[in-house]
Amino acid sequence: MNEEQLPQVVMPQCQTEKILKGQKALVTGGSSGIGKAVAIALGHAGADVVVNYVRGAEQAQEVVAAIELCGSRAMAIQADVSQEDQVSAMFAKMNGEVSTIDILINIAGRQQAAPVDQMTLDQWNKVIDVNLTGQFLCAREAVREFKRRGVVPEISCAAGKIICMSSVHEVIPWAGHVNYAASKGGVMLMMKSIAQEVAPYRIRVNSIAPGAIRTPINTDAWQTPEAYDALMTLVPYKRIGEPEDIGRAAVWLASDQADYINGISLFVDGGMTLYPGFATGG
Ligand code: BGC
Repeated sequence: MNEEQLPQVVMPQCQTEKILKGQKALVTGGSSGIGKAVAIALGHAGADVVVNYVRGAEQAQEVVAAIELCGSRAMAIQADVSQEDQVSAMFAKMNGEVSTIDILINIAGRQQAAPVDQMTLDQWNKVIDVNLTGQFLCAREAVREFKRRGVVPEISCAAGKIICMSSVHEVIPWAGHVNYAASKGGVMLMMKSIAQEVAPYRIRVNSIAPGAIRTPINTDAWQTPEAYDALMTLVPYKRIGEPEDIGRAAVWLASDQADYINGISLFVDGGMTLYPGFATGG
């Protein structure tokens, strides 16, 4: 199929059904990019949302306002998810002011590229600390609260849901990004190990593994027409992902509609993990 024959891009409509009504969610890294879209999508679906951020209080407040506009409650809490004391304080505040937590969406993450022989220990540590240790610290706190409270049948079939933000790079190696790819590979087995351990408590733990999504983390990959065209050679569905694609997936995965889904990575990547080079080669 040549370019002229490709169909026009038509975007799906936003979720309007309140399938998360009465649930309390925490979205880390909720002030921009995928985190912002997920926080707003959860609010649209009826959840009260705590928007965690580390920098950019104003942006976080904008997300809070967008959530309130759709009739849900929201508040912003600043915390660096890689710091144990800040994570504990954030959960204490949430459990105090919002009363409990039903859904944790671990999104805070960073990228710092460098060739392996030039990558500093600081670049390695910063990415692992936020992307992997940060997700562990938040998941640990959430599991403590889920176990303490148990299932509340009027709210959800599960005692709690955790969604880890992974990446296609939990399976696709990424030259120049050894810290990032190692963190996401780690997220995959962290998520599955926690899922296996806490499933008997009716706690569901899953990941979403996005491909290329149009956010500030990867502007180099889509901002110019040349970069976009190069990116499209890696995406069989021939469009970049939008943050709302992840928002819709998160709402569904957190809802009781996905109640029997536990310990999986849901790839939302337009087919990036389908080895696109083999469409014509091999
Ligand atoms: C990264 C993006 C990248 C995408 C596909 C994501 O996990 O954050 O920067 O464009 O993977 O390679």
